[in-house]
Amino acid sequence: MSKRRILVTAALPYANGPIHLGHLVEYIQTDIWVRFQKLRGHNCVFMCADDTHGTAIMIRARNEGRSEEEVIAEASEDHQRDFAGFHISFDNYGSTHSEENREICGEIWNSIRQAGLVTEKDVEQLFDAEQGTFLADRFVRGTCPNCKAEDQPGDNCSKCGTTYGTADLIDPVSTLSGTKPEVRTAKHLFIELEQLHNFLDEWTQSGDHLQPEVANYLKGHFLGVPDSEEGSKPLRDWDISRPAPYFGFEIPDSPGNYWYVWFDAPIGYIASTKQWCEKNGENLADWWRSDDTEIHHFLGKDITYFHTLFWPGMLKSAGFSLPTKVHIHGFLTVNGEKMSKSKGTFVKASTYLKHLDPSALRYFYASKLGSRLDDIDMNLEEFTAKVNSDLVGKVVNLASRSAKFVKDTGLSATYPDDGGLFEYAANTGDQIADAYENCEYSRAMRLILELADRANPFVENAAPWTIKKDPGRASELQDVCTVALNLFRQLVIYLAPVIPDLATKTGALLNSPIENWEQSKTPLVGTSVAKFKHMMKRIELKEIDAMVEETKAEQAAEEALENAPAELAAVLEKYGDSDVPLKDEPLAEECTIDDFIKVDLRIARVVKAEHVEQARKLLKLTLSLGGDNQRQVFAGIKAAYQPEDLEGRLVVMVANLKPRQMKFGLSEGMVCASGAGGEDVFLLSPDKGAVPGQRVH
Ligand code: 2FM
Ligand code: ZN
Repeated sequence: MSKRRILVTAALPYANGPIHLGHLVEYIQTDIWVRFQKLRGHNCVFMCADDTHGTAIMIRARNEGRSEEEVIAEASEDHQRDFAGFHISFDNYGSTHSEENREICGEIWNSIRQAGLVTEKDVEQLFDAEQGTFLADRFVRGTCPNCKAEDQPGDNCSKCGTTYGTADLIDPVSTLSGTKPEVRTAKHLFIELEQLHNFLDEWTQSGDHLQPEVANYLKGHFLGVPDSEEGSKPLRDWDISRPAPYFGFEIPDSPGNYWYVWFDAPIGYIASTKQWCEKNGENLADWWRSDDTEIHHFLGKDITYFHTLFWPGMLKSAGFSLPTKVHIHGFLTVNGEKMSKSKGTFVKASTYLKHLDPSALRYFYASKLGSRLDDIDMNLEEFTAKVNSDLVGKVVNLASRSAKFVKDTGLSATYPDDGGLFEYAANTGDQIADAYENCEYSRAMRLILELADRANPFVENAAPWTIKKDPGRASELQDVCTVALNLFRQLVIYLAPVIPDLATKTGALLNSPIENWEQSKTPLVGTSVAKFKHMMKRIELKEIDAMVEETKAEQAAEEALENAPAELAAVLEKYGDSDVPLKDEPLAEECTIDDFIKVDLRIARVVKAEHVEQARKLLKLTLSLGGDNQRQVFAGIKAAYQPEDLEGRLVVMVANLKPRQMKFGLSEGMVCASGAGGEDVFLLSPDKGAVPGQRVH
């Protein structure tokens, strides 16, 4: 088998959110494929990076009072920690906000310009004058021009499904400031994709690079079928620039304009490779401008268009290698439904890891993934049952029932007669490898489990625990365990791309690291066996429940901060209608002076009050406690106060409240108010003469 040079990528996660179980389908799918190729001895590298540019990051940084660089540095650290927690092993993890990326974007841009593909057009876009920014679709809401449904997003109507431009919305409102945006005209740069129509038609329809359903979708929706009634359709020009302000790279030959995030994001694949090449003495051209290298992209079906039309078009124009294969997967559902925050199934990677073993998820996803675009469902009961029955019950059990009996003797010097079990499993290796190669992991898992189903009866019939009782049968005991452990090891080699952790533990148990696929063909003999250590434990339903409950609690905490003082509203609901004064609210439990003293109340001045993008009830307050001592506090008082009315006034704040990370930023305290919530909120104020920073006693 000749050694292949293979470059693999997974889609670059946005830097403006945490990794969750939905993302992990793709990263686990890709990591398995990469580990498989490495185990087969190929020269395979896995490149990824954070996708950092765009309006969302810019707005978030602004709301949190931090620089974009700070926001993306934190996201990169969190993402890499989460990926490592799931044993996803990149050869390089970069960032689209890197000098390497800027440089390659410039290079590709120049080629596209030289090829005569760039054109300029005036574009009407909504502009938020208060925030000083053009508004991307998702920052505008308004009335649908078609069915007149109110409060619809900027790109398509959730009621009637019509798609439209933000400028077509009736009574548009900016979600950033709540103000009515203006229509402004700005120059945008476009790539004339139609010039590449023939090339894209050929490339997408060749049958080699795309799954058949993807090729058909592109033909039907974008490229058109020449002999059909509709004929071949022209490809729309692609708007690849955004006017300032925008967090991204300014276009060198078009000052004041920035490359749209989807221009520089895929170039991040090349930039990450460049970083890796520099660290490892490799040559970038060997990876991105060589017919000897395969390039495989893994991604979700929602971003098909970018990777199968724009991206090959860009690569082709700039003389880079085209993708060998684009592997597209479906979405994750949990218990048959879209992941849901309120049901606790929108589970963050970090939350999962507090409760469950990453290997369990890797195996479960592998058992569900095929080569098609179907969505995969994670039924939580099935997940529990499958991991327990397959991995713990059928695989690990082979070792846990035999290893301890050969701890002192090691494995037999020659491989005993096992009735052909080892040989049969060795011969199945090619089929399993073929399934991995073609991304049919569910088939690979089925084949491996069938082998486990053959191995288990051997151990049950031989019953080493019974043989052990008869000192005269020591050599038989060693032979039986040698077979059991070799069959186990063979399964673990086949599973190594999916469960690398089990492969590492097995290597340690049998004093022979698992390093390549070929090891599945030769039994291990005459080696020592270490003390058996626990390899994988059963999943308990209560662990799943705890994970779901924690996810719900995370969601509730976010909402509580957004809705405060909603607790008061809850009291109202309990004690009568809104006319009932809150004085009827029962007193809280008695506290001592020592308890009270723990709460450090301070006078603070509101130096800044701002709306928070997408928060229904929050205002962001910057409070001064005197001198440079400032705090950022998110308060649920939007319905009761206009930000401008608050600036300059004194309030009372809880200054020693533990800071809480909210969706919108860190909240470093709380302002004191009475009232039922909503419009009924009354901030407490000190009398004249109070000074910011003074303690309230
Ligand atoms: O859809 C997404 O999450 C994008 N951040 C993927 C980018 S993939 C590549 F083009 F960078
Ligand atoms: Zn509508």
